[in-house]
Order: sequence, then C-alpha cells, then structure tokens
Amino acid sequence: MIAQDIDCPVVFSKERCSGSYTRLRKNRWAIKGLARAREVYETPGLEAALLEIDNPPDLIKAKKRAIKYPKLANRVMRGEPPGSSPGGEQPKFTATIDAHGERYAAIVKFSANEDAAGARRWASLLRCEALASDTLASRGIPVAKTELIESDGQVFLESRRFDRTPVMGRRGFASLASIDAALYGQGDSAWWQLADQLERDRWLSAEDARVIRRVSWFGALIANVDMHLGNFGLMLNDGLSATVAPVYDMLPMLLRPDSQGQVMRREFTPPVPAAGQAEYWRWGAEAAVEFWRGVQGAEAIEVDVRRFAEGAEQAILGLVRRF
Ligand SMILES: Nc1ncnc2c1ncn2[C@@H]1O[C@H](COP(=O)(O)OP(=O)(O)O)[C@@H](O)[C@H]1O
Ligand SMILES: [Mg+2]
Repeated sequence: MIAQDIDCPVVFSKERCSGSYTRLRKNRWAIKGLARAREVYETPGLEAALLEIDNPPDLIKAKKRAIKYPKLANRVMRGEPPGSSPGGEQPKFTATIDAHGERYAAIVKFSANEDAAGARRWASLLRCEALASDTLASRGIPVAKTELIESDGQVFLESRRFDRTPVMGRRGFASLASIDAALYGQGDSAWWQLADQLERDRWLSAEDARVIRRVSWFGALIANVDMHLGNFGLMLNDGLSATVAPVYDMLPMLLRPDSQGQVMRREFTPPVPAAGQAEYWRWGAEAAVEFWRGVQGAEAIEVDVRRFAEGAEQAILGLVRRF
C-alpha cells in the first residue's frame, strides 16, 4: 500500500496528510512517494481499501481481549479461523489490537478451554514462552513482544507482529528455512551453524551472527527441541542488508503433550558445547539458568514443570562447572 510505504496516516486524503507532507518534504524521495500516493489515491477502490485498513474487521480493544479471545479461539477450534491463518503447528489467530489509540497487529496462541492434562500443559508452556522471551529481552536480544492474557483458566499468548508496521504495512521477513533453501539447501542445520555461514558469506554482521549463536544455545538449554529453521529468521531491509529478526516460538517443547494430548514424563540431558561454541554456550547457559529459576518461581505453572525446571537448572550448573 502506497500510503503505508510513505508513512502516511491510514486513511489517505490531502487534508489529513498535511502533517506527513511537511515531514516528507525533508527528502526528495519522499516527495516523489507522496506524488505517487496522490495519483493512486484517485484510483477507484483505493479509498475503500484504505478505509478497511482504518477499520480492520479483526480490530479488538485491548481491554476487551479477555472476552473476545476465547470466542476467537473457539472459532479456530471449530475450523473457522477468523482473519488470515498464520503458519506453524499450534492453533492460533491474528488480531489488530487498539490499545488507547495505538494499534498493533498480533498473533495469538492459546491453550484449549478444557480441564484436561494436555490443556494444562499447554497453558504452562505458553507461560514458559512468555518467560523465555522476557529472559532474552532483559539480556538485550530482540524478541517479539509478548503478553499473557487469561480467561477462566484458558491462557492466550499474544505476540506483537514484527512483520507489520504500526499502520499495518508490511516489513520484509524471511525465515532461516527460506534463506537456507535459497543459499545452501542444507535443510536441517543448527541455527548457530547457519549463523557461521551467513556471517562468512557477508549476509549478516558479526554482531547479528553472535545473537543467533547465543539464542541457539539458549534454546537448546531450555529444552526447546523444536528449533527447526522455520522458527527463526531475518528482517530484509532496504538495500539488501539483513538483520536478525526478533525471537519467537522459544519454549521448552520437550514438555509438550504428545499428539494424543497425553502428558509424558521427559528426561532432559542438556547439550555440551560444540567445537568453537563454548563462548556462546556459556552465554546460553547463564540465561537458561535464569529462565529455569523463573519457571520454578512461577506459581501458575504446573508443579511437574517446576520440578522439571529444578532438575534442568542443576544439570546445566553441573555442566557450567566443566565448560
Ligand atoms: N510476533 C510475530 N511476528 C511475525 N510473525 C510471527 C510472530 N510470531 C510468529 N510468527 C510467524 O508465525 C509462525 C507461527 O508462529 P509460531 O510461534 O512459530 O507458532 P507454532 O508454535 O505453531 O510453530 C512463525 O513461524 C512465524 O513465521
Ligand atoms: Mg513455530
């Protein structure tokens, strides 16, 4: 959408654009963009499209989320997903949130609305995902901003979309799976291995490659056994540069219920550092210990998961003494 490309207010009109126009005059490219936007604005149908952006059908007021989210989740479970259907394996829906006039696009994952072991486990895991995200953020790693919303025991994990702008334009994002397919075709490398290659081939800065290696070991040490290349990615910026995308879907997937919804007892043996990775492994271990302590202290998380967290912390501390 042109109006979003030039950072214009959502409904584009000559009157409402005057503030942006002043800002846009600051560079010639933007003036060209504005002229183009005006031209397109005259196109039949565009105003209707822009009005839809102003009033998206999935708009929800932030304070109504605890009432609306269970209804949207029900529709997903009945096979009538509202809005667009995001990828991934877990059921989820998208929404546009209006938080006191500020808007953002979100992807929402949720636990089932039932009193069953599988549902309770997913509720715990969504809480773990929020904790993992906070742990990484506090250590300076870019993460998708998450928020937990609860309603009658059902847990929703809302993740702010980093591939959308505040006026619902798009930002370029490519998963490591697509990048690997385009450049190397390996398919199943560990994230840290791909980071080495991307840095070597100058697709990524040394700093960003380091972020990927750190997150890669953090994930392995919080028992995230689902770190396929679709679960991390890069932001594609103007001028062919790529930067590391915010982290999402980071949680101890080892503890997920099986495909029948049964909760199994799991053994976790934290990995030792691969050759040349000790520095990143140690970073990951320190963050993972903080994460597992957070899990132990979170009363809303199931007792079994908190006990598991205690064992995992001890196992990592045992390795830290050696490496
Ligand atoms: N905050 C976000 N912003 C943009 N895209 C996201 C965000 N969170 C997830 N995604 C996209 O949605 C897909 C599914 O989300 P994910 O959290 O991985 O769910 P699942 O647990 O089902 O795999 C991801 O692979 C990613 O492409
Ligand atoms: Mg995923």
